[in-house]
Amino acid sequence: MGSVKEPDTTQKPPPPPRPLPLSDPTASWFQDWYYKIELEPSVVTDGKDYLGQIPIRLLLRGIDVAGQRCLDVGAMEGVMSILMERRQAARVVAYDRMPNDEKVKTVREKLGAKFEYVAGMELPDMPQAVSRDGSSLFDVVVCGGLLYHAFDPLTALCRVRGMVRPGGVLLLETAAVLEEGYGMYFNAEGAIYNACSNFWFPSVGCLDYLVRYLRLRPLDCMSFLPGSCCPHYDGEAERRPAYHAYLESGDIKPGYAIEDGAAAHFRHGRLERVVSKRAGAKAYYVSIDKGTVNERALDVTQLPAA
Ligand SMILES: C[S@@+](CC[C@H](N)C(=O)[O-])C[C@H]1O[C@@H](n2cnc3c(N)ncnc32)[C@H](O)[C@@H]1O
Repeated sequence: MGSVKEPDTTQKPPPPPRPLPLSDPTASWFQDWYYKIELEPSVVTDGKDYLGQIPIRLLLRGIDVAGQRCLDVGAMEGVMSILMERRQAARVVAYDRMPNDEKVKTVREKLGAKFEYVAGMELPDMPQAVSRDGSSLFDVVVCGGLLYHAFDPLTALCRVRGMVRPGGVLLLETAAVLEEGYGMYFNAEGAIYNACSNFWFPSVGCLDYLVRYLRLRPLDCMSFLPGSCCPHYDGEAERRPAYHAYLESGDIKPGYAIEDGAAAHFRHGRLERVVSKRAGAKAYYVSIDKGTVNERALDVTQLPAA
């Protein structure tokens, strides 16, 4: 018969886990998110609407990440990592040099995400930290919004590129200057963008040259049509005003706004016709005329009921 062990009263019990203060979204740690994330019904983080998030998400949709090893460089709170995880990636590592532990912990808990999180170290140290079975190569590497923060963007690009396996995909998003030639422009005193740790802006030609120099093959998978496009124009209340605001600010070019149920068919870059399977669904060419948004309704061919 064993003896009954007296409880050790000298040791303090561990503190109970601290509940996440989601009931109080005004709490200080809850402020200043990068991404808007719905953590609980109606509890949405106060993220920003940076335009750079849009092409990354759009391009990510076109990459089959199922079963792939995926790396998200400059992951912030890990939205791109979650998207890859949800699409059955075999392994997802979110890396950021700036530790964002509390927010990432919240996101993982609230959304049931399991992506690995590596933070608080500089880029040169990261490959070692994430290596598995002696390899730090990934099938899909997402690197968004990082290069312009690097004081030496070429070295940063080399390091990120070095983690893409032969035949893998690098989804690279960065700011560029729309100038001819191969210049790399320094953001002296915030001449191009705000001066807060934003250093270098390549011309598109320069960026194209650099990625090819690093033996990457740019894929022409965006901008295959001129201008902009706004689907679900009537499907979400914020769409129309947001599209107008981007046009007015000059952030995007004039383009096509398409309501739910309608579709625009282009041939060789030119609009052929607009069709609709929903009675009354419309489409417009939306432009700016003397500073005012101008919606030109397009002819719509109603498709027969299926
Ligand atoms: C503008 S946010 C981009 C977030 C997200 N990847 C996106 O594109 O939406 C830039 C992120 O990159 C990180 N970052 C900037 N320079 C870095 C560097 N040299 N190494 C690692 N992370 C860096 C920042 O900490 C920040 O989280």
